[in-house]
Amino acid sequence: MKITVKDLSFAPFIPESAILERVAQIGQQISADYAGRVPLFLPILNGSFVFAADLLREVSLECRVSFVKHASYQGTTSTGQLKTLIGLNESIFNQDIIVVEDIMDTGLTLSKVIEELRSLGTRSVEIATLIRKAPAREHAVKPKYIGFDIDNEFVLGYGLDYEGLGRNLSAIYQQVPV
Ligand code: IMP
Repeated sequence: MKITVKDLSFAPFIPESAILERVAQIGQQISADYAGRVPLFLPILNGSFVFAADLLREVSLECRVSFVKHASYQGTTSTGQLKTLIGLNESIFNQDIIVVEDIMDTGLTLSKVIEELRSLGTRSVEIATLIRKAPAREHAVKPKYIGFDIDNEFVLGYGLDYEGLGRNLSAIYQQVPV
């Protein structure tokens, strides 16, 4: 069924059951890949809160989680040492980090974050993204875990928003003509 959010229309795209099945697979894969280690998950707010909550409950390892946020910096980036993440309360030195992202579009946001984390002496840094859009496929930053590869359409729900709305939808919707 079509829904309207503000001025846009959206149609069902990925049903909740398909999302949960894929998230469970990723959780199992991470549990196998990180056996014997204690990874630190860094979900990036706001969009990844739903994905992270479901994913972490599918991970059968000892692990830590610390929600972080992109600093919304003002003005230009010419001041040099800009912190791109805020909320990092855990020490990340020598840690196996798994950055949890809702969606990679161009991949630019995440490449900055990865660069910053690597410069802080982490042991390893990988990405789990629920959705990767077509432009991010060309990007140098390659997520190790990808829920769904999609074309360049605008999507909503399961944490993803349109102007702050729609994050609470259980399924993922795609924009369609009004
Ligand atoms: P990137 O730096 O281009 O990869 O930007 C990724 C960010 O853009 C995501 O974390 C989202 O906040 C936002 N974004 C990109 N595409 C969508 C979409 O289709 N729906 C909702 N948010 C999106």
